Amino acid sequence: MRGHFTHLRRHPGDNILSALVHAHDDGERLSEDELTSIAMLLLAAGFETTVNLIGNGVGLLTAHPEQLALLRADPQRWPRAVEEVLRFDSPVQRTGRVAHRDTEVAGERFRTDQVIVVLLGGANRDPAVFPDPDRFDVTRENAGDHLAFSSGAHFCLGAALARMEGEVGLRALFDRFPDLALSGPPHRRPTRVLRGYARMPVRLSPATVGA
Ligand code: HEM
Repeated sequence: MRGHFTHLRRHPGDNILSALVHAHDDGERLSEDELTSIAMLLLAAGFETTVNLIGNGVGLLTAHPEQLALLRADPQRWPRAVEEVLRFDSPVQRTGRVAHRDTEVAGERFRTDQVIVVLLGGANRDPAVFPDPDRFDVTRENAGDHLAFSSGAHFCLGAALARMEGEVGLRALFDRFPDLALSGPPHRRPTRVLRGYARMPVRLSPATVGA
């Protein structure tokens, strides 16, 4: 990452890392540690999460061909389908908060400094919000009400980018390889916070691979 900073000092661009490097060099508004840790956070928060959104989307759409058919019939449905993938198979399953004072939320008491684990993936299957929550439905009207990007002060900085990457990536993949199908059982990564696949063998027809 430090090598990349050196590169950006020589070739600054219209991008967030160039701006952060500038904030460090120009009067040290960011310390070296702050610069490095923010850059590493951006890398970690922005990479595997989106990989998992795309992988989970491929898994769901190959397992539910009738839903894929709805997208083929009306590609305008893609943005909502991405929200439904985020809801149904949330790439970040949980996060945490620390109580700053004694408080009560939904009838539960919390003491100052108590760590609270927040199950985003569970909230996204709440039947009080999403009727028939275990059904994957790309036409679900309120799919976007999910908490896959969390909520409040730490709401995901990259949510708009992730949504765009998910839509562009999944749509391009299924347009380019219309007969994409699983060729063996996919394997999930043995993770608890992030949810995605380690391996997903797929078959592509020779015609589309060569095209
Ligand atoms: C599908 C993809 C993504 C998902 C599901 C996701 C999910 C999340 C969640 C749940 C949080 C909040 C954690 C909390 O409230 O405690 C978060 C925070 C964050 N995300 Fe994302 N994220 C994704 C993509 C990205 C991308 C593409 C970037 C940047 C390029 C990014 C950068 C960040 C950063 C910097 C934070 C911390 C924000 C803060 O603490 O103020 N994320 N993300």
